[in-house]
Amino acid sequence: MKELEEKISNSKNLKEIEEVRIEIFGKKGVLATQFAKMKDIPNEEKKDFAKNLNILKANLQKLFELKKEELYLKHLEQTLKEKAVDVSSFKYQGESGALHPVNFTMDRIIDYFVSMNFEVAEGPLVEDDFHNFQALNLPEYHPAREMQDTFYLDNGLVLRTHTSPVQIRYMKKNRPPFKMISPGAVFRKDMDLTHTPMFHQVEALVVAKEAEVSFANLKSILVDFLRYMFGDVNVRFRPSFFPFTEPSAEVDISCIFCKGEGCRVCSHTGWLEVLGSGMVDPNVFKAVEYEGMSGYAFGIGVERFAMLIHRIGDLRSLFEGDIRLLEQFR
Ligand code: PHE
Repeated sequence: MKELEEKISNSKNLKEIEEVRIEIFGKKGVLATQFAKMKDIPNEEKKDFAKNLNILKANLQKLFELKKEELYLKHLEQTLKEKAVDVSSFKYQGESGALHPVNFTMDRIIDYFVSMNFEVAEGPLVEDDFHNFQALNLPEYHPAREMQDTFYLDNGLVLRTHTSPVQIRYMKKNRPPFKMISPGAVFRKDMDLTHTPMFHQVEALVVAKEAEVSFANLKSILVDFLRYMFGDVNVRFRPSFFPFTEPSAEVDISCIFCKGEGCRVCSHTGWLEVLGSGMVDPNVFKAVEYEGMSGYAFGIGVERFAMLIHRIGDLRSLFEGDIRLLEQFR
């Protein structure tokens, strides 16, 4: 009896306890052998013998179950320890990508205007003379066409020099009042530190009944937008000329590098020119057959903004695809 209990208690693993089980409870085990003796026992002793044997069996069984459970848990714990995967030790070995600074800046600009309920419109990269120039108050032989360094195609079409032609198309398809922006690539024959033959613009156009849109509206949205993009800057408007706007203004922000003190980036003026703007010229409305309307427009050079935000010195470097430059924007 004691001996059997010890056999159970001393089992060290599931294999050993299974052997003990067969030895004690098996068909030819100790208990079976004891029960088999029943037939040789005198009748009057049979009852006690059976009772004792059953008590013994129950005790051993209880002990066995407890021990087996204990060994099973031990086994489980050990297996988990040996075979478990340590997820915290996993490190992704690949390279993660990032938005190109031009896309990043473009998205930020678009986000602002979408939040102000501007509709986003797109148009063709190859344009005809009417949409790119004439409708924008740039008649043939007008000297202001020179401002745009145009790529002319053999068939008389051009690579659009700005996204203003999208606004002409939009005005012909829609009726005021509306607020829209036209983001996209534009092309000019120009290449130096701050110019590439392809760059991106976001131009905005707001049109409503006369007297419902004013230069004051233009000013307030631009001040708000420029502070959203550049933080706490001062904004100033300088009289300028664009064929499609009258009056026109160029917009400057106080230099974000020297806070207006004067430095190399702002040519020691304390100001950075960031965009062109103005009230839509009546000739533009005439070209799209609008009457009694007024509106304002402005044009943002996305690369110019990206250069300022990311302090990029040479615009051309953005389009060379050099991974060493692009990696810095992760
Ligand atoms: N279309 C002008 C350009 O590309 C930008 C601009 C738009 C200026 C609207 C004034 C008003 O140069």
